[in-house]
Amino acid sequence: MIFKRYMNKFLNLPLRLKFILSFLAVISLGGLLTLTFGTRLEHRTIISLAQAKVQHDLASAWMVYNEKLNDIRDIVLINSNRESVQNSVKNNDKATLFKYLDRIRKDFNLDVLTLTDAQGKPIIRTSQPDFWEDEQINDPLVIRALRGEIVAATQIISREELIKENKTLAEQAYLEIIPTPKAAPSAKKHEENGMMLKAAAPLIDENNNIVGSLYGGILLNRNYEIVDRVKEIVFKGERYKGREIGTATIFQHDLRISTNVKKENGVRAIGTRVSLEVNQAVLKEGRSWIHRAFVVNDWYISAYEPIKNIDGEIIGILYVGMLEKPYIDLRNKVMITFTGIAVLCVIILLVILFFITSTIIRPLQNMVFATNKIARGDMNYKVEIDFQDEVGQLAQSYNQMTEALKTANQKLIQWGKTLEKRVEERTKELQDMQGSMIQSEKMASLGKIAAGVAHEINNPLTSILINAHLMMEITPEESPLQENLNMISEETSRCSDIVKGLLEFARQNPPLKSYVDINGIVETVIGILEKQVTLKNVQILKKLEEKLPLIEVDASKIKQVFWNLIINAAEAMPEGGTLTICSRLSRSEEFIEIEFLDTGIGISDEQKKKLFDPFFTTKGGGTGLGLAVSYGIIEQHQGKIGVRSQLSQGSSFTVSLPVKGT
Ligand SMILES: Nc1ncnc2c1ncn2[C@@H]1O[C@H](COP(=O)(O)OP(=O)(O)OP(=O)(O)O)[C@@H](O)[C@H]1O
Ligand SMILES: [Mg+2]
Repeated sequence: MIFKRYMNKFLNLPLRLKFILSFLAVISLGGLLTLTFGTRLEHRTIISLAQAKVQHDLASAWMVYNEKLNDIRDIVLINSNRESVQNSVKNNDKATLFKYLDRIRKDFNLDVLTLTDAQGKPIIRTSQPDFWEDEQINDPLVIRALRGEIVAATQIISREELIKENKTLAEQAYLEIIPTPKAAPSAKKHEENGMMLKAAAPLIDENNNIVGSLYGGILLNRNYEIVDRVKEIVFKGERYKGREIGTATIFQHDLRISTNVKKENGVRAIGTRVSLEVNQAVLKEGRSWIHRAFVVNDWYISAYEPIKNIDGEIIGILYVGMLEKPYIDLRNKVMITFTGIAVLCVIILLVILFFITSTIIRPLQNMVFATNKIARGDMNYKVEIDFQDEVGQLAQSYNQMTEALKTANQKLIQWGKTLEKRVEERTKELQDMQGSMIQSEKMASLGKIAAGVAHEINNPLTSILINAHLMMEITPEESPLQENLNMISEETSRCSDIVKGLLEFARQNPPLKSYVDINGIVETVIGILEKQVTLKNVQILKKLEEKLPLIEVDASKIKQVFWNLIINAAEAMPEGGTLTICSRLSRSEEFIEIEFLDTGIGISDEQKKKLFDPFFTTKGGGTGLGLAVSYGIIEQHQGKIGVRSQLSQGSSFTVSLPVKGT
């Protein structure tokens, strides 16, 4: 559960942090493992190096030890073979013998130098001249010497035997045992016996008879010559932070009898005992023991080996120890350096990582930024593509996607606009259609009335006109009635014109169609009208599109329409102006459009509604039938008349005639 919660928290972190934390975890784990195993290995290597050295040092210590033993052996051997000694023995010249041997003992720093007879009874005891009653027949070395052997060995010498040699030696050997925490349990409070390096050689006369033995020795208890020599030769007296690096000790059994390990107060630590562990390994099992050990008050890398007597029995231990601290310090130094390098590496890796993640994350951040931009409607934003890796490809796809989205969006907008326009167009078409339907209906009903009225009026009018003419013929020319009759005739003619117009409007004769060039019709109408007074001040501009298709129309009716429109335009510009006449093919190419554009007074919206109504006129003398008739004609041709106008700016009437006749 907790793991899941932390995992969720982790997964919600920003990408860069996630990268860094993951790498950090991996690096730290790797670093930790390397550090742990590395330092362990390094510790082991350093310690085993130290152990190898201490083992080597122990071998050197043995050399010093055995050298001393050999020295004693040599002294004993040389002097036992000396002629002067042999002669003195033969002559029983004890005074000379004593003098000579005592000098030898003192010169070579021996504690004991004793000459015995063939039965092992001391003849000359240089260490205690007045004591010779005893027998050394129990001493294994003397026994062997009397058998003709030259022997040297370390021996335990009992207190009684020491006293026999010299009382001071017994005192020198005596040691109060200091209680030692880790030592083997023992009730012994003191040690009385001593341990001696001892050698013996036979005294052989000229007849090859063994006449006695010479033995000599050095008591090792409280004698520091060997241990100090070991320190000097092996360790060269080196010190580390005020402490001696190397130490050596000789144990009598498990008791320190000669050492240069010092206690806190600087006194040599004799009287203390070896630990139980070492005791077991070396004294009981006879093994070498090489380990780190706490000796007196410091950790030492220690090597212990058993000291054996002439019979091969273990009687003591030779020890060499090296202060562990320099090695530990060296190990720590290496460890700290190692850790420092590791930390530095992690920092460098992190910096590198930071830059690497930046290169990976920056494009992603750009993409997030871009997405936000698009979400806010900015389709023009492009993600920069730095590389062609997966992120680069993603960015590329992303850009393509936005591009497609943008195009789709534009199309949608365009489509919306088109739709709007279409709707507008359709609405307009519908409105137009509705308008024209209303107009057609109006025309149809009005046409019927007009036709009826015209028919009814036409005959009486013809009678009036005929009768008026008859009356004019019979009335003398100078008669004032002539004028009245003339007026009747003119007004009747006018009425007849109106009626004709009405009939024209109402009749809606089927057009007589033929293929004509519409521009030609325009030109003809202009040609006739140009000479008229109405168009005096009007400038006519022609913009007729060439190569228009011929269309099938009733030319005379279309002429009438153009006539009406040009006259109307001219009448709308009493002060003069410009009439532009354009002909063109419609955009759909289904119609030919002829536009009459004037710069006249314009038409109000109110007027526009009634424009094509019959009898709608704003002119005094107008019939108001011009546009109504024109409308009817164009309708007969399945065409249209459109008006655009702005008051006091001008008007435009556009006639559209289908290209394909029906
Ligand atoms: N180009 C134009 N500019 C301004 N008003 C116009 C234009 N054409 C027509 N009109 C208006 O439309 C009315 C109807 O025109 P229509 O041609 O049907 O009759 P009319 O010109 O008045 O009389 P008639 O054609 O018999 O002389 C006109 O009286 C005028 O008010
Ligand atoms: Mg008119």
